[in-house]
Amino acid sequence: MYERFWHKMGEKSTIVISGHQSISYFSDVRNLCWFLEPEFANSVVRLHKLVGNAITEDHHIVVGTGSTQLFQAVLYALSPPNASEPMNVVSAAPFYSSYPLLTDYLKSALYKWAGDAYEFSKDGPYIELVTSPNNPDGFTREPVVRRTKGLLVHDLAYYWPQYTPISFPADHDIMLFTVSKSTGHAGIRLGKIYASIEFHIAFGKARGSRPSPIINMQGRLIIRIPILIAVIVSDEWALVKDREIAKKMINFIELNTIGVSRDSQLRAAKILQAVSESYDHVDNSKETEPFFEYGYNIMAKRWKQLRAAVNKSKLFSLPDFPPGTCTFTGRTFESQPGNFQFNL
Ligand SMILES: Cc1ncc(COP(=O)(O)O)c(C=O)c1O
Repeated sequence: MYERFWHKMGEKSTIVISGHQSISYFSDVRNLCWFLEPEFANSVVRLHKLVGNAITEDHHIVVGTGSTQLFQAVLYALSPPNASEPMNVVSAAPFYSSYPLLTDYLKSALYKWAGDAYEFSKDGPYIELVTSPNNPDGFTREPVVRRTKGLLVHDLAYYWPQYTPISFPADHDIMLFTVSKSTGHAGIRLGKIYASIEFHIAFGKARGSRPSPIINMQGRLIIRIPILIAVIVSDEWALVKDREIAKKMINFIELNTIGVSRDSQLRAAKILQAVSESYDHVDNSKETEPFFEYGYNIMAKRWKQLRAAVNKSKLFSLPDFPPGTCTFTGRTFESQPGNFQFNL
């Protein structure tokens, strides 16, 4: 979606990796997360400081290979190894459709999907996934279960100023971010199946759910539904306060893939640096528009088009998002979600 910006960046976002680089498993043996490239860590911290969307001080950075791995690392780290019952994992509906799949596909004895957080009434410990802004409805979210035995994981994939006004630097115990939503670099994804709307309706009926067309603001208006069936190779990072939890996540990634591609981290570092550097010499010309300004304008244009099309069709309606003032840009605007789904 941000391809034109990256074309214009040219050399500024290009790296060359020579044959003698990234040979060892280890990126930084002094770091708790020994497979974290220092350049990647620095560029993550620099970008959060610039945007003001997350506190990085007092947090460990854990890098993972896409959401599949980091998400499972979090569940593994938070679930007691010897409990008699798997840990319940919940999220307030409507939730990101991959959560139940990612939670249950290995049929782990450590954790299991327990559905909508609004409906969750069991006693005992649980993990609540709080996605803000939320995929698929774009609204700002807070935890809903609010019991003492709850562990919270904040998925802040869309907490960037092209999608939503940044209102405060998030300072949660566990926060997840991904390059795919911040800069558009969704990486190499293997084995996507694109199913037609007829397939989706039939598939939904077979599962007893209502069909729901998806408007993907990152591509065109789509009626084709991507179903992810393979490993994701885009960089994600988690900011984790508790050292022991960070250690267990790192342990999971060691067991799972013995670290995270160093080359891919170096590339991601360059991309994130380029975003930060686009703010070094800001003038108002379109040619040198900084990254989030460019992203904001694209999202604004697409939401304008979407609202116009929806108004014309009379078939659908779109929510109004409450306006907020962005502490990063100073602009007051309504959220313009990067992923949005509505029901027929
Ligand atoms: C809320 C949310 N979290 C995490 C992800 C995972 O992003 P990625 O797999 O590109 O890192 C997505 C992707 O759509 C998402 O919508």
